[in-house]
Amino acid sequence: MEKIVSLCKRRGFVFPGSEIYGGLSGIYDYGPLGVELRHNIKQYFWTKFIAEREDVYGMSAAILMPEKVWQASGHTELFTDPLVECKICHARFRADQPEVIAEHEISHKKETIGWSEPKVFNLLVETKLGASEETAMKVYLRGEITQGVHVNFKNVLDSMHPKFPFGIGQIGKAFRNEITPRDFLFRQREFEQMELQYYIKPDEAEGKKQFESWKEFSLDWYYGLGFKKSSLRLRQHAPDERAHYAKDAWDIEYNIPEIGWKEAWGIHHRGDWDLKRHSEYSGADLSYYDEETRERFIPWDIECSGGVDRAVLFVLLEAYTEDTMNEEPRSYLKLATHLAPIRVAVFPLLKNKPELVKKAREVYSEIKRQIPSAVFDDNGNIGKRYRRQDEIGTPHCITIDFETLENETVTLRDRNTGKQERVDIKNLSSILL
Ligand code: GAP
Repeated sequence: MEKIVSLCKRRGFVFPGSEIYGGLSGIYDYGPLGVELRHNIKQYFWTKFIAEREDVYGMSAAILMPEKVWQASGHTELFTDPLVECKICHARFRADQPEVIAEHEISHKKETIGWSEPKVFNLLVETKLGASEETAMKVYLRGEITQGVHVNFKNVLDSMHPKFPFGIGQIGKAFRNEITPRDFLFRQREFEQMELQYYIKPDEAEGKKQFESWKEFSLDWYYGLGFKKSSLRLRQHAPDERAHYAKDAWDIEYNIPEIGWKEAWGIHHRGDWDLKRHSEYSGADLSYYDEETRERFIPWDIECSGGVDRAVLFVLLEAYTEDTMNEEPRSYLKLATHLAPIRVAVFPLLKNKPELVKKAREVYSEIKRQIPSAVFDDNGNIGKRYRRQDEIGTPHCITIDFETLENETVTLRDRNTGKQERVDIKNLSSILL
């Protein structure tokens, strides 16, 4: 984990939030390469869960929502963690994280620690909207992106006229006042989620079938990010572990090297919890009338919910590889090509040979038209350029040398093996795309 945190800072993936002011716990900023990686993961979600499916619509709801939404969803009352306070230094921790508590006890060395009784602590982040203190209205930054979809259920129904079952997918920021944000991007206070709410007719057998199918779909999708089979597993929540809205819940977990299995993604059977509660609290009729069967019902919701930042972290942890190349140690990111922030780098063999630079610029311009994330690099010697690109996971490097000027071929180097082959310039795009 430390190696990834340091790589992220050094190579422009992720920086501590507002760092020059001392940072803000649980908040991170994405740099030039991180934002591309994150974008590629989100794009892959959007393609597979929304764009390629006929039964799913996309949407994007606002972050700020009135208090009543969160009362209806149960979050003001039930979205809580147990909190304990150290009686010596008044630091606060989650009572259900024994490793964090033990770590803190060790930090007090020989002093014997007393702990307060566990208190219920609500994770919602609240703020106010309005021009004066007296009239300002309490609103919440959404604690999960889900509710933005449920409150628009009727709008999508009325505007798109979908047939059941159908889904609504969304990607966006969520906010939680985590008591102990930790493990870098794993537990943050501001993070991004990618979710699908899949609405079905209320029926036990249909619910089970859809739940199983979305579990499999989610796991396949996660493997598509480049994980080995042995790095992921599915685990069912025990009844006392489930969120207040869940009839059944499973997690996709990632085996973090030297740490162990941690939640990456959740699949939840939310039943009619959300739509029923929003109907009650808003007064809007969120039932559906099926013309064919002449039934009126409140649909059930099968949810797939993943953290974008957790996916970024886990993808980086999985991709990080150390080996020896040309008798020198190297580290590289074995990123799937569709996720790499830079897909290809183009170099002139020598910076001080104008004819090589000119030709390299020509090749680069042509590739850049087709692969916008391509970069041009002529800094340092060729070996150093390869190492720099390996470290950030660039799958291919192209070098323009003297032979290029004679026969329109270049060397194409593979990141994982370091092997180079000579290929015709005219064949580059078919190989790279
Ligand atoms: N709508 C359901 C929901 O929000 P969740 O299990 O609380 O369920 C879903 O969150 C996913 O969001 C998690 O699997 C995780 O990937 C991500 N996530 C949750 N809390 C997070 C946090 N504090 N920091 C980063 N990611 C988080």
